[in-house]
Amino acid sequence: MAGTQPILQVKNLFKRFGGLIAVDHVSLDIHSGEVVGLLGDNGAGKSTLIKMISGAYKPDGGHILLNGEVVSFTTPLEARRRGIETIYQDLALCENLDASANIFLGREKMRHQLGLLRVLDRPYMLRESRQVLNQLDIRIPELRSPIRQLSGGQRQAVSIARAVYWNAHLMIMDEPTAALGVPEQLKVLELIRTLRNQGVPVLLISHNMQDVFAVADRVIVMRRGSKAGEVRISDTNENEVVGLMVGAEYNQVMKQMQNAPEEIHITTHDENDK
Ligand SMILES: Nc1ncnc2c1ncn2[C@@H]1O[C@H](COP(=O)(O)OP(=O)(O)OP(=O)(O)O)[C@@H](O)[C@H]1O
Ligand SMILES: [Mg+2]
Repeated sequence: MAGTQPILQVKNLFKRFGGLIAVDHVSLDIHSGEVVGLLGDNGAGKSTLIKMISGAYKPDGGHILLNGEVVSFTTPLEARRRGIETIYQDLALCENLDASANIFLGREKMRHQLGLLRVLDRPYMLRESRQVLNQLDIRIPELRSPIRQLSGGQRQAVSIARAVYWNAHLMIMDEPTAALGVPEQLKVLELIRTLRNQGVPVLLISHNMQDVFAVADRVIVMRRGSKAGEVRISDTNENEVVGLMVGAEYNQVMKQMQNAPEEIHITTHDENDK
């Protein structure tokens, strides 16, 4: 990767909420065609970090460069128009709109009616949406149903279709598989690979270590707002990554427990005790 221009460069990003430092001078690079896992315990600062990249939060310090150019987004829509698509952990798609309206959200196709009036070109948007969903082998039973009637996996798939349709430069996913059944999880992982094969890098936040090891090329680990480490998947294993996530103190305690000479007796009460 050395020598190539990263698609995304994050330099010393910093964010505080009152007295709490949520993201503490974090830097990272993401290159074309790689899937990067972002791991860390609850509250480590992962969502806050990606919300700054995607325009949902304004950083209190640091810079974001997209294809070498410093960018500063005031809204997620601005970031999306510049090619950063994000699936948020806590902000869903527009629930009352259908899949095609969500794919075109903020970038609606208009047409002239009677030569004067500008109206939404719904047939065009439906056609285009159907095509991109078919291309990705995503099946949505009724394209005109509001998003709220879709399953979690179908919603994730619609977000991914939006990224593909608009030729996103970067796809950010915050816990995309957390609420999904196993077949839907597999579908999302497959779509992540499809994005990578199309050259779209993916920044994937997940608590599911197996998912991350299945699709990521590299992982970045955050702990208490700071970057605790960065390793290539081919050079590491789950234990090492957990070690980075939880830190040296915890590792020490675990080691002491493992080496403790005395047996631990677990007492249970069964029916005979009553
Ligand atoms: N809007 C907010 N206002 C105040 N504090 C916040 C806000 N958002 C996040 N925080 C705090 O910032 C820290 C980082 O939170 P963040 O949501 O980024 O963690 P996370 O790594 O995404 O955790 P999780 O894995 O649980 O989603 C936490 O201590 C959290 O309580
Ligand atoms: Mg989070």
